[in-house]
Amino acid sequence: MDHDVKDVKLAPQGQKKIEWAERHMPVLLKIRERFQKEKTFKGVRIAACLHVTKETAVLVRTLRAGGAEVSLCASNPLSTQDDVAAALAEDGFRIFSVNGEDHESYYKHLNAVLDAQPHITIDDGADLISTLHSKRKELLPGIWGGQEETTTGVIRLRAMAKDKALKFPVIAVNDTPMKHMFDNVQGTSQSTLDGILRATNLLIAGSIFVVAGFGYCGKGLAMKARGMNARVIVTETDPVKALDAVMHGFEVMPMKEAARIGDIFVTVTGDKDVLTKDHFALMKSGAVLANSGHFDCEIQVEALRQMAKHVETIRPHLEKFDFDDGKHLYLIGEGRLANLAAAEGHPSEVMQMSFAAQALASEYLLKNKGKLAPGVHEIPRDIDAGIARLTLEAYRVKIDSLTSAQEKYLNSWTEGT
Ligand code: ADE
Repeated sequence: MDHDVKDVKLAPQGQKKIEWAERHMPVLLKIRERFQKEKTFKGVRIAACLHVTKETAVLVRTLRAGGAEVSLCASNPLSTQDDVAAALAEDGFRIFSVNGEDHESYYKHLNAVLDAQPHITIDDGADLISTLHSKRKELLPGIWGGQEETTTGVIRLRAMAKDKALKFPVIAVNDTPMKHMFDNVQGTSQSTLDGILRATNLLIAGSIFVVAGFGYCGKGLAMKARGMNARVIVTETDPVKALDAVMHGFEVMPMKEAARIGDIFVTVTGDKDVLTKDHFALMKSGAVLANSGHFDCEIQVEALRQMAKHVETIRPHLEKFDFDDGKHLYLIGEGRLANLAAAEGHPSEVMQMSFAAQALASEYLLKNKGKLAPGVHEIPRDIDAGIARLTLEAYRVKIDSLTSAQEKYLNSWTEGT
């Protein structure tokens, strides 16, 4: 089986989408040009489990331009853009991904990607690595290293490393200033609001907008919602982050209190059971629930289904849950990532930075084959700074550089006032 996509006839439309993304990802195209010249990945097999979007298509084409054989599956059952998947299939990629696939098909596709016997894995949520270490152990000796795109995946991998269960080096592409400041703060906030607006077209101004979690994603979302004139409430469990939210001027309170007054709730914590049946019971009729954390465990969707006497899809990606007492609640994208289920994920300009990091991390793994210990590794800071420079160039922004006297001053401890 070389591909499994919804309908290859969707390819022309997918191709247009990919070309649109390419026109907004000049940084990745620059890296592609070099890979193409140097044939950086000649003979290297790369397995990727990512959201199958137009931006991901630009990444896999970049790796292939460098000579890699790339296999791709989805990292979420609802995030695949079927037309993009069709274009990649037509282009000869081994791609296994259908929007709306069930649990069985999701794992069948993951295994089809692993059947390629990869040297390098690229994950968004650590499902490839988790499967390799549980059900496909025979492939472990052939793996040189992996990369992880998202906070939730890095949390899983650090837990594996702590238990000494992780058998190869993995670059935490998520854990860099470039990822936190742009993908998490700018990308998640815009794409989440995009998902909420496409699903509901509600007015954000004046709404009571509850953000659960004030990490990088939550902070960006709270600030953008405020920028759209929402009345924003933040809930947190971490005292430092809660204080940070207070110092940013947000209302901070426990979810039990926020649940009674919120109009729109968004979970971005990376943890489970953030909105529970107890909260649903307290909520006002008409409240909208969305999740933008990686897994669909932040909202207790099963409990919501059981509490409701009737559930109906009333608009694309929006379900209405009717309760016995006449109250109703709305859920976006089945509680899965609202920004990818109900919208198109982060914009191309943001993804070019994260995917430049993925592309360069693959090259770094290759150059350091056999030298990195099993465990979670940070991406070198000079790679991160290089991506920032390329992106500034794309925005035609010039910056100052340190004089040698300034550099010396920063590196010395003897110079005082
Ligand atoms: N994660 C968030 N947005 C994305 C996008 N547009 N493509 C791939 N992965 C994503």
